[in-house]
Amino acid sequence: MRLVMIASALGLAAGTAFAQDFGGQEDQDYARQLWQNMEERNLAGEGAVQAFPYPGTDPHGVMLETFYTDATVDGHTGALVIKRNYGPEGVTVDQVLDNRGDHLAAVTVMFRRVEGYAPESGNWFWAKYLPDGSLDETPEGTPIAGMAQGCISCHSTAEGENYLFTTNADLN
Ligand code: HEC
Repeated sequence: MRLVMIASALGLAAGTAFAQDFGGQEDQDYARQLWQNMEERNLAGEGAVQAFPYPGTDPHGVMLETFYTDATVDGHTGALVIKRNYGPEGVTVDQVLDNRGDHLAAVTVMFRRVEGYAPESGNWFWAKYLPDGSLDETPEGTPIAGMAQGCISCHSTAEGENYLFTTNADLN
């Protein structure tokens, strides 16, 4: 009985530590700066530049747009990959092109931070935004920004060890 209690207490502690690995105030502030950068450059928000949407799969949505560029945040310049996720199930290219606002479900982003930021996950900063630029949250209510475990665990299976599924190009 006592063992069970200790085990569950440990589980709780581990759960708490895990939750603090990402989504804290610093990650939220950084994510905000990144979104602002994207808005200023017409990569996000009203009037954002558009590409031709292509069919995607879970978890990113049935229609996707992906952009590869760089960004400078806090004096550091790194690769920035933006994925716009459209839905719902069954949505067509024409419907997305007709009215993106109605179909945009989320904007998922990877931004390469300084060497040493996250050596075990390619130094990527991960964020999942809702269309208005606020951060989406995990089911536990943690904002999805920083070294987001859910993103990393799947992207670590991408070929080429750069955490990118769409390309093995050597981005900054
Ligand atoms: C279950 C697996 C899985 C999870 C979880 C996942 N992704 Fe992805 N992600 C993919 C796949 C597959 C692609 C390629 C989709 C395509 O065809 O464009 C992708 C593509 C991307 C891209 C474009 C760059 C690339 O890898 O080619 C970004 C940016 C991205 N995901 C961000 C995120 C973020 C941020 C999260 C967490 C909120 C996340 N992803 C969670 C599977 C996943």
